[in-house]
Amino acid sequence: MDAKSGTAGTITVDGKSVDMPVKGGSIGPQVVDISKLYAQTGMFTYDPGFTSTAACESKITYIDGDEGILLYRGYPIEQLAEQGDFLETCYLLLYGELPTAAQKADFDYRVTRHTMVHDQMHRFFQGFRRDAHPMAVMVASVGALSAFYHDSTDISDPQQRMIASMRMIAKMPTLAAMAYKYSVGQPFVYPKNDLDYTANFLRMCFAVPCEEYKVNPVLARALDRIFILHADHEQNASTSTVRLAGSSGANPFACIAAGIACLWGPAHGGANEAALKMLEEIGTPDRIPQFIARAKDKNDPFRLMGFGHRVYKNYDPRAKIMQKTTHDVLAELGIKDDPLLDVALELERIALSDEYFVEKKLYPNIDFYSGITLKAMGFPTSMFTVLFALARTVGWIAQWKEMIEDPSQKIGRPRQLYTGEPKRDYIPVAQRRA
Ligand code: SDX
Repeated sequence: MDAKSGTAGTITVDGKSVDMPVKGGSIGPQVVDISKLYAQTGMFTYDPGFTSTAACESKITYIDGDEGILLYRGYPIEQLAEQGDFLETCYLLLYGELPTAAQKADFDYRVTRHTMVHDQMHRFFQGFRRDAHPMAVMVASVGALSAFYHDSTDISDPQQRMIASMRMIAKMPTLAAMAYKYSVGQPFVYPKNDLDYTANFLRMCFAVPCEEYKVNPVLARALDRIFILHADHEQNASTSTVRLAGSSGANPFACIAAGIACLWGPAHGGANEAALKMLEEIGTPDRIPQFIARAKDKNDPFRLMGFGHRVYKNYDPRAKIMQKTTHDVLAELGIKDDPLLDVALELERIALSDEYFVEKKLYPNIDFYSGITLKAMGFPTSMFTVLFALARTVGWIAQWKEMIEDPSQKIGRPRQLYTGEPKRDYIPVAQRRA
């Protein structure tokens, strides 16, 4: 196959040659268009885990795993995290361009005025046990939004799609804060329109009716940057879940609830919670070698949480920014020697020099340092993935909108390699033998 020139590649099946066109994007790997393969050969491709499969065309996020590059609509994550804010990133991901000052002000205004949730949602929360995992609460309450906002569930109406998008971005912090407050038995705190997005979230989480809560601007800036880092990431498992759910025409709230459910897994967004638990289990640097040995042991399912990535075979660019943010937050809070950070830094040093990790190109990912930062800010471990979901909502929504607005869009329906029983006849129960 002469991929460079874009001429067709050829697959020969039972002596019959079938051309496979090669399609190129603006940057990154080209693709072989196999959409006609089954019709022309009666064969499927086989790629469990989609390690070599491009499921869609997208203009939103680009990752170069070998170079450790992450671009949102072409802008490097390092520049957006350093110079922008989260709502600016939301605008960029949704509309494709950085907003002018007027567009940003209007967008912030619109998001701010969607931050309240229907007051009956408060009664909805009462049904949960206080010790329910906040991710269980988020899956349920985000899905339940479709029971309250019928005027933004018609996905064929662009206006309703945009209102649903704004509602999702605006209400996730409110629902996340409610999930936290409910878990600690404190009253819900309503959003305040004179606070910016992330400051509002911190206040809804940590304010109590008995006294005024003053948002620490350094922590608010750090958390806003953490949200930018988590906003989107190409066709990861939860985004692919949202796209697949949306391809059936399901309403956006239900699709985001599906994305939250997928993100919860420890191999994906649940890794930040699992990574912190791992660091706590290791406890002290002298215990690191035994955990490294376990991670390398084929017979031990243990993996170093916060290490490795399907795409990044270099340092996750977000992890570097995350590590710097961790130091900023600990310094602001006057935490001189965080034992968890000592373990994390030593674990990273050892892992990055260990042959096993070097050969398999296992580097720290975004989840490795985020837990230390969020714990220092006062969030319980169980809230870490909720914060990931809060930030990723804009990415899910932007990818969902792109999919819905793609004229070639159709329901996603993969096939399989069947290895079960061939056709056989029913046996009456009296004739069955164990
Ligand atoms: C996120 O996709 C995204 O973009 C996700 C994400 C996003 O922003 O949406 O970036 C967020 O999910 C980050 C990843 C968080 N997960 C973790 O930190 C959990 C620990 N990591 C692993 O479970 C694993 O690295 C994955 C799931 C992240 C990636 O798994 P892959 O791509 O399927 O790779 P693999 O499991 O085939 O591993 C390749 C080899 C294997 O060894 P061999 O079978 O080849 O001998 O590397 C080993 C694995 O055993 N390996 C690890 C390891 N990760 C992979 N060994 C020890 N510790 C690890 N963490």
